[in-house]
Amino acid sequence: MSVQKPQRRLTAPDITARKGGEPIVSLTAYHAHTAAIADDHVDFLLVGDSLGMVMHGFESTLPVPLELMITHGRAVMRGAARALVVVDMPFGSYEESPAQAFRNAARVIKETECGAVKLEGGARMAETIRYLSERGIPVMAHIGLTPQSFNVMGGFKTQGRTKDQWQALEDDAQAVSEAGAFALVLEAISAPLADRLTQAVPIPTIGIGASAQCDGQILVMEDMLGLSPRVPKFVKKFGMVGAAIEGAIKDYAQEVKARSFPAEEHTYGMKD
Ligand code: KIV
Repeated sequence: MSVQKPQRRLTAPDITARKGGEPIVSLTAYHAHTAAIADDHVDFLLVGDSLGMVMHGFESTLPVPLELMITHGRAVMRGAARALVVVDMPFGSYEESPAQAFRNAARVIKETECGAVKLEGGARMAETIRYLSERGIPVMAHIGLTPQSFNVMGGFKTQGRTKDQWQALEDDAQAVSEAGAFALVLEAISAPLADRLTQAVPIPTIGIGASAQCDGQILVMEDMLGLSPRVPKFVKKFGMVGAAIEGAIKDYAQEVKARSFPAEEHTYGMKD
């Protein structure tokens, strides 16, 4: 008989409670196996809409449909038992009105059983963040470089490089925090401004290309594994998985061509 206790999954309030404490570790995840591998080492997994580019080869995140987020969200929930799973709301699924956002976010929560959603935008999304939070949906906010707005931002650029840009981002951080966001992603924000925002808001800031002084960090898993063909400058490759995959495939191809695979003793069945 197993005496193992079922694992308690971290929640949005657990993440909020880490403000100013031990740094929060997070990664994106899009499928069950990598989610299971990461589960013991991260506090939350984000099913980011970056999956459109990383997994499906789109040029941007804009074409990603809600159904795709739900499919990958369910896979990650099946893989991870301990980490909070946050699912991104894709472009067009929440901006129209708080009611539209609630309808789609509720679908994400019901169909994936994830613990929270993330959406992009600062002050302009505050009303929606409040609407969702007050109706039982924890929201992670995301400001700075918001890839869903790259057409109006004119590309992927660091935000807050000059001090005249700071006030708008400070207003964004305050607005989403006051509206009830449980955490705040700061993407591609200059380090001095990211530090200032981290000190200014009572919710954890999660940096990506921002500052080591944020309350936590997130990276796209495939980028830090060395699997993505191109990565932003700030990304450190903690692995060389792309090269390892290519090496393994070359070895396999060689063995197939030499008729040395499968080996004579090979029998069908699963290895332990
Ligand atoms: O979609 C995503 O992966 C994200 C992270 C980069 C924060 O939003």
